[in-house]
Amino acid sequence: MAVFRVGENIFVLENESFQYVMGVGADGTVRHLHWGDKVSPDDFEVRVFDDINSNHSYRDTICEEYSSFGGKLFRDCAFKCEFSDGVRDAVLVFEDYVISEDTLKLILRDIRYGLEAELIYKVYDGCGVMGRKTVIRNVGEDRIECEKIMSAELSFPEKCEYEVINTNGTWWGEYQIVRERLSGGSLSFESRKGTSAHCNAPFFIAEPSLRDGGKILFAALAYSGSFKVSVSRDSFNVTRALLGVNDFDFGVTLKKGEKFSAPWVYFGSAQCADEVSRIMNRFALKHVFPEQFREKPLPVLYNSWEATGFNVTAESQKELADKAAKTGVEVFVMDDGWFGERKDDFAGLGDWYVNREKFPKGLSELIDHVNALGMDFGLWVEPEMVNPDSDLYSEHPDWVYHFKTRTPSRMRNQLVLNLTKPQVKEFVFGFIDKLLSENNIKYIKWDMNRPISEPGADNLENSRELWFRHTQAVYDIVDSLKAKYPETQFEACASGGGRCDYGAFGHFDEIWTSDNTKPVDRIDIQNGYSLINPTKAMRAWVTDSSDAPWSFKFNIAMQGSLGLGMNLFECSEDDLDVMKEYVSLYKKYREVIQFGDRYCLMNLEDHGLNAVEFVTEKENRAIVFAAAVNTKHLHRSFKIRLRGLDEKSRYRVEIGGESTEKSGSYLMHAGLERDFGGDFKSEIWTVNRL
Ligand code: GLA
Repeated sequence: MAVFRVGENIFVLENESFQYVMGVGADGTVRHLHWGDKVSPDDFEVRVFDDINSNHSYRDTICEEYSSFGGKLFRDCAFKCEFSDGVRDAVLVFEDYVISEDTLKLILRDIRYGLEAELIYKVYDGCGVMGRKTVIRNVGEDRIECEKIMSAELSFPEKCEYEVINTNGTWWGEYQIVRERLSGGSLSFESRKGTSAHCNAPFFIAEPSLRDGGKILFAALAYSGSFKVSVSRDSFNVTRALLGVNDFDFGVTLKKGEKFSAPWVYFGSAQCADEVSRIMNRFALKHVFPEQFREKPLPVLYNSWEATGFNVTAESQKELADKAAKTGVEVFVMDDGWFGERKDDFAGLGDWYVNREKFPKGLSELIDHVNALGMDFGLWVEPEMVNPDSDLYSEHPDWVYHFKTRTPSRMRNQLVLNLTKPQVKEFVFGFIDKLLSENNIKYIKWDMNRPISEPGADNLENSRELWFRHTQAVYDIVDSLKAKYPETQFEACASGGGRCDYGAFGHFDEIWTSDNTKPVDRIDIQNGYSLINPTKAMRAWVTDSSDAPWSFKFNIAMQGSLGLGMNLFECSEDDLDVMKEYVSLYKKYREVIQFGDRYCLMNLEDHGLNAVEFVTEKENRAIVFAAAVNTKHLHRSFKIRLRGLDEKSRYRVEIGGESTEKSGSYLMHAGLERDFGGDFKSEIWTVNRL
C-alpha cells in the first residue's frame, strides 16, 4: 500500500491489487494515466496533445481526473457552476498536493475565481479497494452557484467496448441485473426519488469486451439519496464514468468560506464479475460498517409484520413472542402499528406515542415479556414521514416538503418531513431518543415508504440543496443515536430495498432487502444484491409467502442475515421444531456466511440450479446452498464444483444425514454430482477441513 509522487508531476497510488496513476499536464489539468497492474512508476509521462481539428479540441482526447464545464470541453463533465458575475466557465488547474500515509489530496484552483476543488484519494489496506471524493470550496469573496458536483470521474483503461452492469428493479423486485454493451454514447443509471436503490443502484461493474479477458472495473457511490452514475464512450473510444449526487434538480450555493463535500466513491478492479462481490464484501466488513457491530455477527430475528400487519396488541405480540422464542431467534421485532392512531396506513405517522388501546401498560410490558423469553426487542419507526391525519401535521403543516402554491402529493397517504429544518431534525432525533432511553430497545427498523416529491423547502435559500441535505440529515440522526445507544442496531428500510448502498452501509448495520419474501423471487433479488453489496447487511426472512417447503425457504433466506416472518399462530409444534433446527444450523455457520467470501457457483438461468457457497478466509469451513425451483424432469443431476478451498486439504462434506470426505482439489475441480429431481428441491452442505 503506497501513496507517492514521482518527479514533479506524477502521483501514484498502490494497493495489493492495482496501481492508479495521475499526472499534471502542461496546461495544469490533472490527467488520468493508469488504472491496472503495477508498473514502474518512473516510466510515466504526460503526453502533450494538440487540438485534433476545428471541431475536436485536445480536451476531447485527454482523460481528466475531474473535468469542469469550461474552455473547449464539450462532453459530460464532473463539475459545473456559475460565478456571481454570470460567468459559467470553470478552469480548474493543479495548484498543490498533500500526501499523508494512505491519502493523497490534489488541490485544483480556478485560474481567476475563488473556486477550489480538492480531489481526495484514499488507499485502503487489505482489500484491493481505493476511495475518492471531491470537496468544492469557495475561497473567494463572491458566491458561487454550483449546478453539478460529481464525486469522481473515472477513465477506463481499455479503448474497447465495455459491458456495463447495474440493476433495474422496482419495489417488490429490487436488484434485477441488467447488462448493457456500450458502443458509443452514454448509459445513465440514476435515482430522482431521494432514496437510492429500488430501480437503478449507485454503482457500476464494467467488463471489457476483449478476447483475452481484461480486468473488470467497478465503483460504488456511498450515498443513499438521488444519485447518478453515467458511463459514456466518446468518439475516440474512451470510456469514462461519473458518479455522484444526481445533478437533476441539484444546486448548491457556496458563499465565502463555504464548502460542499461530495460523497465517497469506492472503486477497484477484479478478475471476474463474481470477484467484485468478494472484494467489496471484505472491504465493507473492514472499512465501511459502523464500528459498533462491524465485527459482531448479526442476530437471527423474528419480525411480526407479515403475521399481524397493523393489528398489533400487547397480548397478541406476547403470544407471538412465546412462539418465536421456541424457534431460537434472538430478537423479536414489532413492526408498524404500535403508535398514535395507527390502524392502517391512513393515520398516525408522526405521532410517536404508544397507542394505549393496544398497549394499555405501554411498551414495557411487551419488552419485559420478550426479554424474559431471552430475546432482545426491536421496533419499527418511519421517522421521515407524517400522515396528514396526525396531531403532528395539524400542529406543523409547514414541516413537509411542498411548494407554497401547490398541495403536496400523497403517496401511501403520507408526506415527507422537511428534515433540512433544524427543528424537524431535532424532533426526529428527540422521539427516537425518548423511545430508546425509556425502553430496552436493541434494534430499530428505520423505514421510508415513499419518495420525495414537490421538493420545496422555504427555509433554504437554494431549495435544490434539499436532496442531499435530507440524506445528510438522516445520516446525522442515525449517527447521533448510534453514538448514544451503541448497543442498538439500526436497519435501513425504504419499502424494502429502496435504501441500499455504501452510504447506508456506513451508517446502518443492515438493510431490509425487499418486501418480496417469495423464495423463488428472492433468488434473483439476492444474486443482484450480492453483485457488489455485503452479505451481512442483507436481511432475509422466511415467511408464508409461498407454498415451497421450509427446507427451500430456509435455504434461500440463510444466504444473508436470517430472519423469520411467518405467521407463527398458524404453525404447528412440528413446524416450530423444524424452524428451530434451521435456526440452530444457521447460528453454527453464520460467521462463515456473514463474514466469509461468497461464490455464486451456479445460477438458475445458466444451470437450472442456484448454488451459492460461503467460505471462510482461512479456507477451513464452508457452507453451500443449492436449490432448484423446478427441474422439469424427475431425475436430474447437477455437478456442483466448490471454490475457495485449499486444494491439498481434505474436507468432510455433510449433506443432510450423509457425509463424505474429499480433497479440496476434488471438490473444486471434479465436483460432486447430486440429484435434484422435482419442484423446490434444495440441499445445504456443510464443509469442514479435516
Ligand atoms: C414497508 C416495509 C415493510 C413493513 C411496512 C410497514 O413496506 O418495507 O417491511 O415494515 O412498511 O408499514
